[in-house]
This record gives sequence, structure tokens and C-alpha cells, in this order.
Amino acid sequence: MKIRGAPAIGIAGAYAVALGAAKIKPASRDDFLKKMNGVIDTVAATRPTARNLFFALERMKQVTESGKSVIQIIKALADEAVKIHQEEADATRHLSLFGAELIKDGWTVLTHCNTGPLAASGYGTALGVIITAHKQGKKVEVLADETRPLLQGARLTAWELQRAGLPVTLITDNMAGHFMRMGKVDCVITGADRIAANGDAANKIGTYSLAVLAKENNIPFYIAAPISTIDPSLKTGEEIPIEERSPEEVTHIQGALIAPAGVAAANPAFDVTPARYITAIITEKGVIGEPYRLSIRDIIER
Ligand code: MRU
Repeated sequence: MKIRGAPAIGIAGAYAVALGAAKIKPASRDDFLKKMNGVIDTVAATRPTARNLFFALERMKQVTESGKSVIQIIKALADEAVKIHQEEADATRHLSLFGAELIKDGWTVLTHCNTGPLAASGYGTALGVIITAHKQGKKVEVLADETRPLLQGARLTAWELQRAGLPVTLITDNMAGHFMRMGKVDCVITGADRIAANGDAANKIGTYSLAVLAKENNIPFYIAAPISTIDPSLKTGEEIPIEERSPEEVTHIQGALIAPAGVAAANPAFDVTPARYITAIITEKGVIGEPYRLSIRDIIER
């Protein structure tokens, strides 16, 4: 988890494939291609939920199957990785501008996990929207969930928002409902790791609870994500693979045991928010809403 966040995982995955290719000492072109499949499979096995990783690996695989010479493939893989990086960075700028239009002057925005430049390159996704609204002169305050178990909100989001000069208040994840009911939250905005064809979205564990609480309190719930996060091959969110991580991430905080030794712990890293709880999805090609099956198809074809 040195590199995390769906778009950043995709970008790093592409670079990893390009670097892996350059390291191969092939006996032949066929041997090179065989070893390339091994490199791609190794990278694919790192994080199962983030669609951006597989989006990038599919493009890198197409390059290896281009019929070019080994030297040409190695060069083309490096170029493709840079292209994917540039496209993701550009996407964050466009979606941040579209999303900032939804953020009103004087709003308090609640966000979960980390979705800034550290997680996505460029402007970031959900944090890119918030920071862009701030740069447009809107008075925006942020409630940032600490985001147990790995504390991406406390460690990364608080840092990125402080650096951007925004007033940020760190909260524990279980405080979100209280602040919503007390009328302290004007909108919730998060990122996503994979979005199905019907609009169901997987994101950091805890996001589904926020979406249900937001609906209960009539608060708009937005997801900001590049189109590379959408997986049109999955009909609904039930098909999204959810990463199960080590229980030690729950029983320990930064190496310190916080529970009785040997206690069992669960650690699903993501959950799925059904589309009916999502007010809108902010992409680099515009903001889309229900019926997501149509709006997602249209925006992918656009
Ligand atoms: O386990 P992580 O830290 O990779 O999870 C990250 C998230 O859930 C983010 O919200 C999502 O990847 C979008 S990052 C722009």
C-alpha cells in the first residue's frame, strides 16, 4: 500500500509492466511474450477491486500483442504507461471542474478515505472537486473521516487539504451520522474503485454507510471518478470483487496491538453502494445521474 487509490494503482501498474518488460532477458520473442504474461499476471494479482488497474493492464497487454519486435514493444510499453498517466491526470482536472459546480459557497463537505493527487495523480478525484471549488473562491469546509483501518483520511486527506489551505476537521468514521443529523453536512463526496454498468459503486469500506446516512438526512451523495473506473462488463455491484485484507490491519494500528492478542477480526477493504443512494457520478466527460444504465453507456460511448 505504498501506492494506493484506484487511479494511482492503475498508473503504477502500467509503469510496473513497462519496467518488468525492460528487465526481461529473453531467449526469443516467444520467450519474451511468455514472460510478459507472467509480469502482467503478477501485477494483476496485487489489488483485485480497483478497475483502473485492469483498465491499464488491458492496454499494456494490447501493446505486447501488437506484433512489433521486442525492442519496439519495450519502447511502446513505456510510452503507453506515460500516456495512461497523462490521461488519468487530465481526467482529474476535467472532473474536478465539473464537480466544483455542484459545491456551493459556504458548504461543509464530508469525505471518506483519500482521493487527492496522492491517490489519483493530477488534481485527485473527490478531493480535486473540493480543492477546485476552494480555488474558485468558494468558502468550503471539510469533515474528513479518519478511515479505519489504514487511516487514509487521517494520514493523507488531512495533509493534502492542509497543504491546499482548506479548513479541515478530522473525525472518526462513526461520527459522520451524528454530524449529518445535526445539519453540519451539506454534501458527501467520495471516490470509487469500480463502478458497475448500473451505477453501483465500490469504494473504501464505510462508504455504503455514509450513502445510507446521507439519504436518510436528505444530503446529496456524490461519487467522483474517471471513466477508467467504470466496468461496463459488470451488470451490478454484486459482481465487483471485494478485496479481503489481513485482520492485523484491524487488530493493530501502525504496528501497535489495540485488541486482545489472537482475537478474530474481519477486514473487507471495500463495500458496494447501490446506485439508488448515489445522487450523481462526476466524470471527466460530465456529471451523470439515474438511470445510470443509460447515462453510463452514453458517457462511455461519447
Ligand atoms: O485501499 P485504498 O487506499 O487503495 O482505497 C482507496 C479508495 O477507496 C479510494 O476512495 C478510491 O480508490 C478512489 S482514489 C481516487
